[in-house]
Amino acid sequence: MRIDKYLAHAGYGSRNDCKQLLKDKAVQIDGVLVKDAKTKVDIQAQVVTVRGTVAEYKEFIYLMMNKPGDCLSATKDKSGRTVIDLLSEDYLKYAPVPAGRLDRDTEGLMLLTNDGALVHGIISPKKEVYKRYVAKISGELTEEGKAKLESGVQILDGQNEPFTTKPAKVEMLGDGLVGIEIAEGKFHQVKRMFASVGCKVTYLKREAIGALELDPALGLGECRELTEEELGLIKDIKK
Ligand code: URA
Repeated sequence: MRIDKYLAHAGYGSRNDCKQLLKDKAVQIDGVLVKDAKTKVDIQAQVVTVRGTVAEYKEFIYLMMNKPGDCLSATKDKSGRTVIDLLSEDYLKYAPVPAGRLDRDTEGLMLLTNDGALVHGIISPKKEVYKRYVAKISGELTEEGKAKLESGVQILDGQNEPFTTKPAKVEMLGDGLVGIEIAEGKFHQVKRMFASVGCKVTYLKREAIGALELDPALGLGECRELTEEELGLIKDIKK
């Protein structure tokens, strides 16, 4: 692989930024100074350093965040903070984006990555990736209401035709808490599904995306890279 591409994937900015580093004589391969952007580097065998620090090659980054309830799951927001604002420079340099949306007031598992194919897979209705939420509700969820959610409810969709949700998996957890798994992601879908059976969601948290579970050790606003094992649980979603 060309050294300028390697440096870009190691998080040293755009190809032009990387070419500048080379011009600045900041880059060495196996201890030998390189200035030519076309120089080839063997990813498996050689060590690249920038100003003496090893530049680790990483094309993709996969982050798990425990999203707090006062930030938007977008890259930009005019009036408030976004999940991207919570990332450190070490992660920002890979330009990750949120894989799907959560409402501003929803907490919990958010996956951020620069792997576009995985983002696409996670949000694609065709892939039917289940997302599990826990909702605190006011109003009683009756057995009849639960059965309706489990078979599919009609939801009004603005100017569009009402749509019928696909069957959800619903579990009564006690104390006004209900677990719900859905494989769709319409705007405010969980809140609107509960509203259709006479319940109001007063708190919502996402706990899992497919087989990937939110790490309970992550505090609100905290973020870490997925382990190899966790990545293995979701990487097939993009196939
Ligand atoms: N459903 C909702 O209503 N809100 C979310 O944030 C996610 C799913």
